[in-house]
Formats: sequence, C-alpha cells, structure tokens
Amino acid sequence: MSDAADAPTGADGPGGADQLGGADRHGITVRNAVVSDVPHIQRLCEPFVQKRILLGKDLVTLYGDVQEFQIAVGPDGVPIGCGALHVMWDDLAEVRTLALDAAWIRKGVGHRLLESLEGAARKLEIGRLFCLTFEVDFFEKHGYLNVGDEGLVSPDVYGELVRSTDEGVAEFLDLARVKPNTLGNSRMLKALPAL
Ligand SMILES: CC(C)(COP(=O)(O)OP(=O)(O)OC[C@H]1O[C@@H](n2cnc3c(N)ncnc32)[C@H](O)[C@@H]1OP(=O)(O)O)[C@@H](O)C(=O)NCCC(=O)NCCS
Repeated sequence: MSDAADAPTGADGPGGADQLGGADRHGITVRNAVVSDVPHIQRLCEPFVQKRILLGKDLVTLYGDVQEFQIAVGPDGVPIGCGALHVMWDDLAEVRTLALDAAWIRKGVGHRLLESLEGAARKLEIGRLFCLTFEVDFFEKHGYLNVGDEGLVSPDVYGELVRSTDEGVAEFLDLARVKPNTLGNSRMLKALPAL
C-alpha cells in the first residue's frame, strides 16, 4: 500500500499534541488527540452514528477517552478523521471509532490513521487487534481476518471482561444487550508482530 507520508517531523500539534508522522501529499498529518478535538470527534462520527455504523458516544465519554484517540488533520488545520485504540486485556486491544469526513474518504487517510493506531498498539506490547466493522475490505487490506463468532479469549478472561462497563467490550463479548449494535458487523482480528 503506498503512503507518501511519513518522515516524522518532530513538530507538535495544538496543545503540544505529539505529531505522529509528517504531512502526506494531501497535507494530512496524524497526531494524538487533545481536548479541543473532542467536539470534532463527535462531528466526524455523527453521520456514521446516524446510519448505525458507529456507536454514538456522549461528550462526557469522549472526553474521558480522549487519550485513546488519534486525529488526522487536514491542510488547513481542521480535523478530518479520527480513530481510537482501546486496550481490553494483556494482549488484546480494539481499533474503534475510525471515522472520516466524507470529503476525505478513499484518499488514504483511513490507512494513515490505522497504521498509526497499530504503531501505538505495538508500543503498548499489544499482540492482537480486534475490530467490529462493516468495512471488511478496508480491514482485510490491512491484514485483519474475519473471525466470525470464534471465541477470542479464554473463559477466565471472559469472566473478567464481562465486568467491564465499556460498550465496546460488551460488543466484543457479543452480549445480548448490545446485539442491536452489532447486527451485520464483522468481527475481525489481526495478530501484530512484536517490535
Ligand atoms: C473505513 C474508513 C476509515 C476507510 O478509510 P479511507 O481513508 O476511505 O480508506 P483508504 O483510502 O485509506 O483505503 C485504504 C485501502 O482500503 C481500500 N478501501 C477503503 N475502503 C474500502 C471499501 N469500502 N471497499 C473496498 N476497499 C476499500 C482502499 O481502496 C485502499 O486500498 P489500496 O491501498 O489497495 O488502494 C472510512 O471509509 C470510514 O470512515 N468509514 C466509516 C466508519 C467505519 O466504518 N469505521 C470502521 C469501524 S471502526
């Protein structure tokens, strides 16, 4: 997959957010989210929430999760995409809330964000990345496999995860109360080689 992006510049984003790669040929950079990005995250997700593609989240939840997010910033400095990495267990995390401004779909921004989230996962020593998605082709191109309803954790770990109040963890476990959210989605998994 081509990516003209990527020599780190060392420059900081707003509020000193770490920039995670240089600008690509479209002038896109990816950096860690800061609190002023949160309303943008909600704006970027909203069209997909309306279509029931993404789970809607209240601002209070997004502020609490801000450290999980990375932001793709357009040439004019406005956020055009977001994505998050949520750690679930000692070798397992979820890529979630990957959403782009419609004008930037299919221009490599999703690829930039996903690669950057995977880099963050590797640094955390995460071995497996989960995703619940309608975008099967996009994730397959990045090495994710459809795992159907295969159990991905041991009964012991399941027993721990079921205590979580996180909606995404409930979806991962396919709990009955979140079935309406997961309908039609594919469960996908990628093994990450160690650094
Ligand atoms: C999924 C999403 C992030 C993809 O981002 P994107 O920037 O459009 O994708 P990219 O341009 O980086 O595409 C990367 C590769 O995937 C392919 N691809 C992307 N979307 C695809 C699709 N819907 N069908 C087939 N291939 C697709 C591209 O052709 C490209 O392949 P190539 O490298 O061989 O050219 C974006 O469509 C989106 O925001 N979707 C809605 C929210 C969502 O479903 N998020 C995922 C669940 S968290």
